[in-house]
Amino acid sequence: MEVRLERNALAQVEADAVVQVGFEGGPPEGPCADLVKELYDAGEFSGKSSEIAILHRPAGLKAKRLVLVGGGKRDKFDSAELRKLSGAALRSLKAKGLHNMVLVLEEPFRSDDFAAAAAEGAILGEMEADRYKTDPKKNDKHMDSFALLGASEAGLARGRILAESQNFSRGLANEPANALTPTLLADRARQMASEVGLDCEVLEQDRMRQLGMGALLGVAQGSAEPPALIVLRYQPAKAPSTKDHLGLVGKGVTFDTGGISIKPAEGMEKMRYDMSGGAAVLGAMRAIAQLKPAIPVTGIIPAVENMPGSKAQRPGDIVTALSGKTVEVLNTDAEGRLILIDALTYAQRLGCTHLVDAATLTGAIVVALGNINIGAFTNNDDFCKKLLAAAKAEGEKTWQMPMDEEYKELLKSSFADLQNIGGRSGGSITAAMFIRDFVGDLPWVHLDIAGTAWLDDAKPFMAKGATGVGLRTFVRLAESW
Ligand code: BES
Ligand code: ZN
Ligand code: ZN
Repeated sequence: MEVRLERNALAQVEADAVVQVGFEGGPPEGPCADLVKELYDAGEFSGKSSEIAILHRPAGLKAKRLVLVGGGKRDKFDSAELRKLSGAALRSLKAKGLHNMVLVLEEPFRSDDFAAAAAEGAILGEMEADRYKTDPKKNDKHMDSFALLGASEAGLARGRILAESQNFSRGLANEPANALTPTLLADRARQMASEVGLDCEVLEQDRMRQLGMGALLGVAQGSAEPPALIVLRYQPAKAPSTKDHLGLVGKGVTFDTGGISIKPAEGMEKMRYDMSGGAAVLGAMRAIAQLKPAIPVTGIIPAVENMPGSKAQRPGDIVTALSGKTVEVLNTDAEGRLILIDALTYAQRLGCTHLVDAATLTGAIVVALGNINIGAFTNNDDFCKKLLAAAKAEGEKTWQMPMDEEYKELLKSSFADLQNIGGRSGGSITAAMFIRDFVGDLPWVHLDIAGTAWLDDAKPFMAKGATGVGLRTFVRLAESW
């Protein structure tokens, strides 16, 4: 889909549809103000969020249709609302078979952030998971061109980079696990890195053995597919004014059967999205390479398949992590934390001073926060505040969870330094406490995205499947340094 600026005045725009936002309490200005006012007066359109009205051949416009989309209350409207509205408008118009549209931004909603959000909504909304459907007639409909009227080129360009990167992440997380093994994920990372000019290194199994990544290797050993540790490096062109170095680590379990502690069959197919954290890091690095923030950023993705093969680790096995600490593996399904700790230790060895990880880590976070908020856990409230501000600016709802010392008790092992599960209560917190033990004194935030990385049903603004959540927060955090 072409995404561009519209430079003609509204009346002169030629398109299948021009889309205007109508707020509660009164019609928008413009050449069709009278027509639109009639709709409001008749009670056919009130401006409520997600409302839509379509006028054909509107007098005074060259466009074939004028589409009104409800923006809700004007004083509550923000870039997150615009992102959703833009995506929902695009999805509803393409479902009707329209192929090009122009979205009109009005003051005071024309800043770079609003323009970026509008472009993002459209690009995210356009994506369908139809690449494995072979009958073109049955494929979902697509929009060919999306234009913004009243926006800046800079905002649009940023939105394009972010949303295309997010779709790249979503595409990876949607891939079935037979098409995206750890090796194939590493290939995709290398390919992407060469396209955007990032340094990419992939550590193979032998190298991980030499280094002593026993926690990661223990998870990988049940699968015929070898693991891969993907490392992407971004260095600013100008010598940075800061000594800081951001490390982004993403869980890359390409499929999680649970291992010997095997999962129930129902819904197991979804566990291909267990590499969504890794995909978000890959996508963030793709965007960072193009947006060029002032701070060095290293992205690390431990990629493994968690399988119950004949060589699989057993409950009760004790592994030695890269840090030297020993872990009693009481449940092989708590594998995410095992691969993350070795990746986080490695990130410290590469010189990272600040760490953020994203992982589809626990079912417990879905119980706690549902599918609305990412759960954030930290050892440093100042750093977490910075991340929460970035998340808010990007419309990625994130809620900070407690990390009291008392929870640590639950991870005490009888036979090793610690055990990999803490029991049913507070499951997402004990998981975070486990990881915390491996980040030393570095400021660190852990994002549990198990509830937010996948849509079981399509939203008006996004197709069913992977969401790419976390990526925009990562990028904004790097940009705001
Ligand atoms: N990948 C799962 C977590 C998950 C659950 C992600 C639901 C998405 C949706 C993770 O590896 C896992 O299995 N966690 C266990 C931990 C438990 C054994 C302590 C869980 O949450 O049940
Ligand atoms: Zn698991
Ligand atoms: Zn998992």
